Parts: sequence; C-alpha cells; structure tokens
Amino acid sequence: MAKDWTPSSWRSMPIEQVPDYPDPMALAETEKRLASFPPLVFAGEARKLTRALGEVAEGRAFLLQGGDCAESFAEHGADNIRDFFRAFLQMAVVLTFAASQPVVKIGRIGGQFAKPRSSGSETKGGKTLPSYRGDIINGIEFDEGSRIPNPERQVMAYRQSAATMNLLRAFAQGGYANLDNVHQWMLGFVAGSPEAERYRQLADRISETMNFMRAIGIDAENHPSLRETDFFTSHEALLLGYEEALTRVDSTSGDWYATSGHMIWIGDRTRQEDHAHVEFCRGIKNPIGLKCGPSMEADGLLRLIDKLNPENKAGRLTLITRFGHEKVEAHLPKLIRAVEKEGRKVVWSCDPMHGNTITLNHYKTRPFDRILAEVQGFFDVHRAEGTHAGGIHIEMTGKDVTECTGGARPVLAEDLSDRYHTHCDPRLNANQALELAFLVAELLKKDHAANAPKQAANF
Ligand code: TRP
Ligand code: MN
Repeated sequence: MAKDWTPSSWRSMPIEQVPDYPDPMALAETEKRLASFPPLVFAGEARKLTRALGEVAEGRAFLLQGGDCAESFAEHGADNIRDFFRAFLQMAVVLTFAASQPVVKIGRIGGQFAKPRSSGSETKGGKTLPSYRGDIINGIEFDEGSRIPNPERQVMAYRQSAATMNLLRAFAQGGYANLDNVHQWMLGFVAGSPEAERYRQLADRISETMNFMRAIGIDAENHPSLRETDFFTSHEALLLGYEEALTRVDSTSGDWYATSGHMIWIGDRTRQEDHAHVEFCRGIKNPIGLKCGPSMEADGLLRLIDKLNPENKAGRLTLITRFGHEKVEAHLPKLIRAVEKEGRKVVWSCDPMHGNTITLNHYKTRPFDRILAEVQGFFDVHRAEGTHAGGIHIEMTGKDVTECTGGARPVLAEDLSDRYHTHCDPRLNANQALELAFLVAELLKKDHAANAPKQAANF
C-alpha cells in the first residue's frame, strides 16, 4: 500500500475547487450513507482496464475515451445513453479497423458530475451567485436556492450512475454491441454524410472484411467476442468526499480501489503535487488519468509521475494532454522527451476539446477544424518522437446538438442557439464525433504505413 496513505489522508492537505456546504453535519451524514452503499464497479474490472491500458502504453492498442462534459440529472434517460453508446461504438469500429489494434473503450459516463470552475461566483444582470459546480453539487438554475451545495445530490448522482452503468453493461454484453449492428449503423452514417465519398473507401473495406469472416464461418453466433465488448466508465475525481465514501478494500488483493468508476482522472486545475487530489489518487489502484495543460512543465510532470506511478506500471497512468491546436507542437515534445528519457511507462492521450474553446454569439463553442488540428498535431509530434499516439479523449453526445461549430454538415455560428443543451462545455454531436473518428482513422493508417517497413526490418 502507498506509504502513509489512507482513503481520508487527503483531508489534511490544501485543496482546490471545494464546494461550500452550509451544513457540514448533513454532508458527513451523506458521506456515511454512501460508504454503506454497494460499489459501482468491481476491483477485478479496474485491474482488467489497467491491463488493457498497459497494452496502449506498450503501443499495441488504442484508447477511445469520450462522453459528456458533465452528466446531468435532467438528461438522464435511456435514449441519451443508447444514442451515446451507439455513436461511441461506431467510432470504436472505425478506429479498430484503421489501427489494426484493439480499441480500449472508456466512457466519460456513470459518474461525470462534478465540474471545476475558473471562478467561484457568477454574475448575471447585476446579481452574483455561487457558480454551478455540476449536478452532484448544486443546480444550474440561476437562483439562490439552486446554487447552494446540497449533499443529497451526491446520493442522486450515485443512483443515476448505478442505473446508467446497469444499462451500459446490458448493452455491452447483451447483444446491442454486436459488430454486425454497429457496422450497419456506420454504413448508414457514411451514406448520409456529405463526405460519403471520402469515408466510403474505409467503410467498404470493413464491409469486405466482415463478409470474408462470415464466409469462413466466423460469426456472432459462434464467437461471443463479435457480439460483446468491454466498456469501462470514467470521470474526474473532483469531489473527494464522494470518492472517499466509495473507496473500498479489495478482499482478494488487500488493495484500495475507487469503486465510483473504473478510471478516474485528475483535472488540470487540481493537479498540484502536494495537494489533496493527487494525495487521494496516489493511494488507489485504479488506472488514473492526469490532464496536462500548457502550464505543465517537464520537471513537475516527472514528480507527479513518481507520486502517482512509483512502480512504473504500464497502464496505471494516462497523460491526457490538452494544449490547444496552436500550442501542441510547442508543449508536447518536451514532455514526451522527459518521460522517454526517464523510461516512464505512460499512455499518451489527446484531449483536443479543452484547449480549443472560444466564445461566439455569447456561446462557448469549439470549431471542429481546431479540434481536428490538435489531434493532427498530436499525431505529428508522436511520429517525430517515435512514440505511440495512444488515444483520444473527447466530449461528445449521441444527440444532434449544435454546440461545436463546423463539420461536414456544418454547424454555423448562428445555429448554436438551435440545440445548445450542454450543462458545461460544448460537445461534438453524433455526426461530428463519427466524422472525427474517420479522420483519426486516416491518421492511424498513415502511422501504420510509416511503421510497416520498420516492423519488416525486425524479422
Ligand atoms: N469484442 C471486440 C471489441 O470489443 C469486437 C467488437 C464487438 C466490437 N462489438 C464491437 C468493436 C463494437 C467495436 C465496437 O473490440
Ligand atoms: Mn469539459
């Protein structure tokens, strides 16, 4: 076990982004109740995910992580979960084919409720109230009552996460994720896309491969792996009281696991090495993500890696970089070189969302072109450094929202008000997300082609 660590050792450290609960007794009471509830995930599953991410760290698999910026109580429904999963699986198929590697599938779902805020308060029409911090803490409505942090919301978030997880497990294992289905949906997307010509080549090759497999007798009836998939959950570990309440000892290993989700990550605003969030995460055995923005320096990163992954275990730590399309080339190489020089095993994943947020017509938005440009820059840098561009981390929904501009069927600045539903940051809609997968597929193919001679030379 990590030295001098307990599930509550974070409480004596400085901490950022803490909500101001008016009734600490009620908060303690809620945390006690949560601590008696069943875990949402099982330690063995978290270990399985660590192994799968270990394959990504070693360059043999690709990571797809995505979902809402913030889940909300209002949007909790079967249709939303299904539509998200449907878009996400299609992306996974495209990426698996293009990479010729397994794709590790992790949703930002089943616990993604707490949001760090750049300011503690919000002013509108001369009135100032505490900022909205996510449905697990307070309400988004701009009135005094809603903005008061309410511990009971943690129980609601827990129960929503359990129900979401339950449906996702059924979808992943119960036939919905059958490759034949997903393939048909994907063909439907391509047929309806203004960029159909560009995507059809890849789609046709997937179809041919599926037909070939069927012809030789490999189908979903006799191969469960074709009708099932492993799907994992993740969220930012921001609200540490909630996380602590769901942290349990695994009886088979004696290790501590966060059971609120399979993977949890530390945000760019709460990654101070001697503060509470890093302290909490260092002691649990789940795979951990660490967001790295432009202020991350190589030395600081190495110290964080020492703290979070002292055993240098591949798959334990995923570095999720989010620099912005114009900064990735300036910031990423120095981090990669430091990590490589010290021989640290990490997964490199690209979050092309958070560094590319702008305001248009009073809406927070993200131009699709800039999102794509950051992913491209990420791949270019990794190709130049000889390291594995391990994955992408995106904010997306399965719905046809108008939150990010651009795409093949472009959302224009004046369209933003049509279906702008996010509780926090702008998400790619289903078509934009799939389109991104096709464009990332082209980058993966390029890498694949570049690697081929190198592999051949090894024989
Ligand atoms: N089990 C395999 C995998 O998860 C193949 C598979 C089945 C799949 N259904 C899928 C892949 C849906 C992507 C999407 O990779
Ligand atoms: Mn976000």
